[in-house]
Amino acid sequence: MFIRVLGAAAGGGYPQWNCNHPNSRLARNKNSNAIKRTQSSIAVSLDKKKWFILNASPDLRQQLWENPELMPAENDPLRYSPIMGVFLTNADVDHTAGLINLRESQAFNLYATERVINVLNSNSIFNVLNPKFVNKVPIKLDSYLELLNADKTASGIKVKAFAVPGKVALWLEDANKGPNFGSVDEDTIALEICNEETGASFFYIPACAYVPDWLKDKLNNTNLLFFDGTLWTDDEMIKQKVGIKTGKRMGHISMSGEEGSLNIFKDVKINRKIFIHINTTNPALLNNSSERKVLENAGWEVAYDTMEIKI
Ligand code: MLT
Ligand code: MN
Repeated sequence: MFIRVLGAAAGGGYPQWNCNHPNSRLARNKNSNAIKRTQSSIAVSLDKKKWFILNASPDLRQQLWENPELMPAENDPLRYSPIMGVFLTNADVDHTAGLINLRESQAFNLYATERVINVLNSNSIFNVLNPKFVNKVPIKLDSYLELLNADKTASGIKVKAFAVPGKVALWLEDANKGPNFGSVDEDTIALEICNEETGASFFYIPACAYVPDWLKDKLNNTNLLFFDGTLWTDDEMIKQKVGIKTGKRMGHISMSGEEGSLNIFKDVKINRKIFIHINTTNPALLNNSSERKVLENAGWEVAYDTMEIKI
């Protein structure tokens, strides 16, 4: 199974359009230690001919340009896409807005929780996904689902989705619904993706507010994990005067600190651990930062656009 990182940055991308934080400046100036990244998405394929996209970022069009295998090849029909399906892990703008790029009456399967599908159905702009072609599949948590190709044949990839701590998408927050803004379990899910034939599998968890013991147990002895790398410290956006929210308020665990992912996962056996969904303020974005060194010493990697892994 091939995994291609389409976008390694969090919502807004790196550099974010309106951000003049030193990190963003370095990337904007094309500093070699500050590699630009598009918004959060990965793609998986068994043969590099048929692909499934996990989350559809607003940068999707650019991501396809940078990953030509995801565009029609020379001998494909006049209208064709190698994208067989899209799987959403939440309704965040950085994970759903790219669906708009997939208009033009092209058949594919769209997998998401019922809650997220309802959100899409209630936003008329998503009607550009012609229901005659786009098959929306409400997924059941905690059970395996075989991904289907656009022509409904079996793909050979199965996915198990399960809820992780998080919150409802920012644009759906309802302050009248209490401290969790009306969030429910289905709002943030993790995916376990398996090659049915070989049994090879990996976990994709681009948003997670904290790591309970059951999640540590579930990830123990895992081959490959992509995990929420939004912030280095919980209050970094406040401290650096670029925002008013903590990571906790945004539904994202931080890398550092006692409750941070580096510490929490230190006794969990995972062969390869890769941070993804990285915010423009996170110092670990910089190849030469001391934070990057700390992270690497703890056995972690930082995803970058076009990164490819074969399992
Ligand atoms: C998040 O991951 O917290 C969201 O993508 C934030 C946003 O929608 O800007
Ligand atoms: Mn996001």
